[in-house]
Amino acid sequence: MKNIIRDPGPLENFFIPRNVIHRERQFRDIFSSVILPLRSCIGSTAFIYGQSGTGKTVTVRQIMEKERDLHIFYENAISITSFKKVMGDLAASFGISIEGKISYESVFRLMQRVNNKQVLLIVDEALNLIRSDFEGLYSLMRSGELFGTSIGILIISVDNPALHLSAQDMRKLGIFNEIKFDRYTRNQILDILSSRASISLYGGSYSDEILSQIASLCEKSGSARMGIEILQKSAFGAQYRGADAIDLEDVRAAAAMINPFITESKLMELDFREILLLQSVCQNLINEGECTMESLSRSMAVNAEIHGIKQPDTAFIYRAIRHLETLDIVESRLESFGPGKGVRKKVYVNDVPVEVLMKKIQEISGRL
Ligand SMILES: Nc1ncnc2c1ncn2[C@@H]1O[C@H](COP(=O)(O)OP(=O)(O)O)[C@@H](O)[C@H]1O
Ligand SMILES: [Mg+2]
Repeated sequence: MKNIIRDPGPLENFFIPRNVIHRERQFRDIFSSVILPLRSCIGSTAFIYGQSGTGKTVTVRQIMEKERDLHIFYENAISITSFKKVMGDLAASFGISIEGKISYESVFRLMQRVNNKQVLLIVDEALNLIRSDFEGLYSLMRSGELFGTSIGILIISVDNPALHLSAQDMRKLGIFNEIKFDRYTRNQILDILSSRASISLYGGSYSDEILSQIASLCEKSGSARMGIEILQKSAFGAQYRGADAIDLEDVRAAAAMINPFITESKLMELDFREILLLQSVCQNLINEGECTMESLSRSMAVNAEIHGIKQPDTAFIYRAIRHLETLDIVESRLESFGPGKGVRKKVYVNDVPVEVLMKKIQEISGRL
């Protein structure tokens, strides 16, 4: 039996590396905006955002391991629809069960009584929660001062929340701390891959060329997750072949395997209206061979009617297209009608063939 993989653990999604590299600024910002104030009993909130795979979760996980003197409660909010539920779960982490109606006040009072540690609440994958329960978020952020208990709050999402809130909500929120996780550069991904390969694969089973090739494939997405997944699948592929080392063909096969999964996880971050819009984009591309903003608003209006939801306005369509662009699902380009004849915006689908995307959308909307 030839050997490639020494320890599969570090190639798994849940693995927490000892060192999180290239995130020094983000660590510093989290400390100065939330952790240090908390130590002086000042509550504050920071919004952490960045594309999938940019190290948000792993960064806060590392903070959790280091800051043992705080009571840290972490919640993944992907399928949670209200901040009250998060508060109920936070209370439960103190061993307090709050039955029936949860008020923020009751949770804060009980926390004060039970625990003398400062509380840091981390809500991960929170974009849909922010959008569906802004009032809950706002009350939570204000509760500290209202009830005389200060907690630190980190709200993590894939996009800047400012782009998903109304102007009125933004005014209410006032100034807030925002900490952006940029896409990793190719070289940063290469560093992350090198350190991950060194603890999971046998020396000699991979080369610099292989790691560079994987890093190049991830350059556009800037996602370390994508890099590690390709590394993992390449390693399993080579091992399965009985080879001594990973070769470029293993990398190509691995990359082809993970694309549909990436698309699917991106789709899970969209709300129903955005899914409908994306479906409208696909319909235009399939039926007309192109998708202009005008044809898009027409087919979106039809789809909205079919599903009995509010007619989307132009502002919504532009905002949603922007969101789809930040997720790298679509790309929009301005195209000229010819010299002096003006331009129009057209939308294209990235990543996967339109038919494949359409099929994924239908699978997902069946689950919504
Ligand atoms: N700076 C880093 N150093 C080491 N590993 C990293 C780093 N950033 C991300 N990773 C790895 O990449 C994967 C995705 O990171 P994660 O924190 O889950 O991203 P996000 O939460 O932003 O989607 C994880 O396997 C994580 O261990
Ligand atoms: Mg995450």
